[in-house]
Amino acid sequence: MSSWAGCPRTARLTGRPGRRRRRAGPVPYRSRGATLVVVATGRTGEEAHRPDVDRDCMRLAIEAGAGSRGRTSPNPWVGAVLATADGALFTGATQPPGGPHAEVVALREALHAGAPTAGATLYVTLEPCSHRGRTPPCVEAIVAAGIGRVVAALEDPDPRVSGRGLSALAGAGVEVSVGVGAGEVVEQLAPYLKHRRTGRPWVTLKLACTLDGRTAAVDGTSRWITGPEARADAHRLRAAHDAVMVGAGTVRADDPSLTVRHADGQDPLRVVLGVAPPGARVHPALELTAPLGDVLTELGRRGVMSVLVEGGASVAHAFHTGGLVDRYVIYVAPALMGGSDGRPVLAGPGANSIDGLWRGRFLGLLRLGDDLRIDLEPAPAVEPSPLVDLGPVPPVEPPPPTAVAQAVS
Ligand SMILES: NC(=O)c1ccc[n+]([C@@H]2O[C@H](COP(=O)([O-])OP(=O)(O)OC[C@H]3O[C@@H](n4cnc5c(N)ncnc54)[C@H](OP(=O)(O)O)[C@@H]3O)[C@@H](O)[C@H]2O)c1
Repeated sequence: MSSWAGCPRTARLTGRPGRRRRRAGPVPYRSRGATLVVVATGRTGEEAHRPDVDRDCMRLAIEAGAGSRGRTSPNPWVGAVLATADGALFTGATQPPGGPHAEVVALREALHAGAPTAGATLYVTLEPCSHRGRTPPCVEAIVAAGIGRVVAALEDPDPRVSGRGLSALAGAGVEVSVGVGAGEVVEQLAPYLKHRRTGRPWVTLKLACTLDGRTAAVDGTSRWITGPEARADAHRLRAAHDAVMVGAGTVRADDPSLTVRHADGQDPLRVVLGVAPPGARVHPALELTAPLGDVLTELGRRGVMSVLVEGGASVAHAFHTGGLVDRYVIYVAPALMGGSDGRPVLAGPGANSIDGLWRGRFLGLLRLGDDLRIDLEPAPAVEPSPLVDLGPVPPVEPPPPTAVAQAVS
């Protein structure tokens, strides 16, 4: 199991429904759609209130949500499990914008199977919505289906929801619990939560370097420092972000296309800091010239929830020293540039003394072929910023068809 951006992690989700199925239970049902795997468990309604059952069902909902990551922006990739009173489980995940949310997918599958929804328990990774957006409020569908209990991992920080969904459910006589699986969902939905709380996207800084911390040789060449496994992983990382960003220096030096080619997934919005040459492979790209804080605010306004910054060293230094990085992903090759004249990971002034050392916290270590992937986050963790009212959040805007330099005021 991987976290929202494919980062390695130690915890594995357990409690898959198939392992708990009773021989005498209802006939297993499998979805027609790609997002649903439904297996009857034979649990009674009474058992479904046990804390370990709640945790197992929430883990299943988290797995379902993970399958929608990268396809729902600007909506969160939510997962849901409907546990009916006669012991069947139906899972659902939020569909691309305009499609049904996870709760409604699970409800529809139960209805399609002819399963009774009255008195069922609905597990969902995020508070059901109570407002009308591109789709009707999930709360209405839940109440209409006669669901007896809703277990949500997190309250939705989106100012349009923010507890109203849970209040509406409680007001309609539905039993409501919040907090089961909250730690895992905070990690899984970190980009969404940051975007809704600050208006800015989650920032992952990705670098590939030698063991002596070099990202390019003296002549500027940097391809390829790492091997094919690491590069494929980096493409999976791209596909997990809404946008990918490089500095104009990298465009001039490497002419990257920044598409997803060595992994499954959609191409993210391509963003260049500064101006890319007209014939560059990165086009069509969004070109932004502004202080980095304003650049991030502009991307957030466009509905970008996560951005992968891929360098180069000057841009990486600016993001790092500006305290703008939420997650560092560093691919390290078993290679040495062998001198002090190659390009460093971060280009610019560093700490004057050891007192100014920046410290992070390792989150994961993964071997990829001959290379290593190291994930870390700034330490100590930054407190979440206060809520801001974003108003309606638009879908990710496509870049202009031709390269047009855009200044952010
Ligand atoms: N190993 C790796 O992981 C990796 C990844 C990427 C790149 N690289 C290597 O890194 C080298 C390029 O790095 P670099 O430091 O020279 O360049 P860079 O960091 O890619 O880009 C720096 C340029 O970006 C533009 N820029 C930066 N911040 C801006 C802002 N806020 N607003 C507008 N424009 C902004 C400026 O362009 P102007 O100069 O046009 O004003 C600046 O000179 C290449 O050798 C490349 O191969 C290595």
